[in-house]
Amino acid sequence: MSTQASEPLDVERIRRDFPILGREVGAGDRLIYLDNAATSQTPDPVIDAVSEYYRGYNSNVHRGIHHLSEEASIAYEEAHDRLAEFVGASGGREELVFTKNTTEALNLVAHAWGLRELGPGDNVVMTEMEHHSSLVTWQQIAKRTGAEVRYVRVDGDGHLDTDHARELVDEDTEMVSTVHVSNVLGTMTPVAELAGLAHEHGSHIFVDGAQAVPHRPVDVEELGVDFYAFSGHKMCGPTGIGCLYGRADLLAAMEPFMYGGGMVRKVTFEETTWNDVPWKFEAGTPLIAEGIALAEAADYLEDVGLDSIDRHEHELTEYAMGRLEEFDDLEIYGPPRGEERTGVVSFNLENVHAHDLASIMNDHAVAIRPGDHCTQPLHDSMGITASARASFYLYNTKAEVDALIEAIDDARQLFA
Ligand code: ALA
Repeated sequence: MSTQASEPLDVERIRRDFPILGREVGAGDRLIYLDNAATSQTPDPVIDAVSEYYRGYNSNVHRGIHHLSEEASIAYEEAHDRLAEFVGASGGREELVFTKNTTEALNLVAHAWGLRELGPGDNVVMTEMEHHSSLVTWQQIAKRTGAEVRYVRVDGDGHLDTDHARELVDEDTEMVSTVHVSNVLGTMTPVAELAGLAHEHGSHIFVDGAQAVPHRPVDVEELGVDFYAFSGHKMCGPTGIGCLYGRADLLAAMEPFMYGGGMVRKVTFEETTWNDVPWKFEAGTPLIAEGIALAEAADYLEDVGLDSIDRHEHELTEYAMGRLEEFDDLEIYGPPRGEERTGVVSFNLENVHAHDLASIMNDHAVAIRPGDHCTQPLHDSMGITASARASFYLYNTKAEVDALIEAIDDARQLFA
């Protein structure tokens, strides 16, 4: 949890901003949404921003000179500056590219940077708790370039073994790619320390911040990272939009990832020169409504206060873990209660498959996620194939945690 002073959240007021939280599911029960690490819900100001765009100034950007195109272009371009500011990037739009999601941001860097910079003898260092979005991407780019991939160990309590990181990162390391927050264990990785380690060895660092940016203040310059990615749909924004922060000099030097309209400056039958960053990386008609609405989501989260969101989730997680520990046949993964960890709690109930558990939760209108959470190697290393995951956000309450516990108890009795 952040140590900065923070106000307690007025959760009842916040919940009124999210129309979906009022809906009933199944047999008419009020929805209890604890699947926020997969996708967060969307507040009215963000829904309104999408609606206002389509009702008021829907138009393509960068190319028209009519009123609507000008309005859309300004809002879309300024959205880049807003998201850059949101994560502490002082270079504004020159350091902030809109992508489809975190996965596309990883693929952008892995292809545009990795295919040129990696080769036999080089290595990419990741952690054992990477999401498939980075693990598979760097693994495959390494295969194509002849580079090696290495994985920093995670111990039985979900801590990253930083001594092992020091052994793995060497003069041949070209990229350290790490999650900021594990989407399974809730672990926070020591990003600033890993950035220092990478840079000491002349390497770069890419951070998958999909589970961090929605939940706590993030400052890419304070962290000292080279690339940082996050997704809109996990931070109260729309689906289909994410962000790639990249240091201005690195993005300027990189070749495009995709070719097409909008990303060019001059085209002849023989040659093409590229537009400025970020447009160089945004080929074709971009994510206009989504980008504008994502800026609204950033405003919303800052108005509520990211320190307060962090604190609220921390309290809720501590409470949830305490209640889950009441079951002696339930195993919780990740750092123990009392340690720094985020609002993601994965667990398994003895003799009940995570999918069956989630299905019983669903009968209680409690939405959680079962499965491998796109981290099959991590689950393999924990000796399991699946886990059940509850993940909290600013609108969740202790009463909802109690409902989760009741539903788990029901599952225990059914399978006893
Ligand atoms: N990456 C998302 C999750 O962990 C989808 O659920």
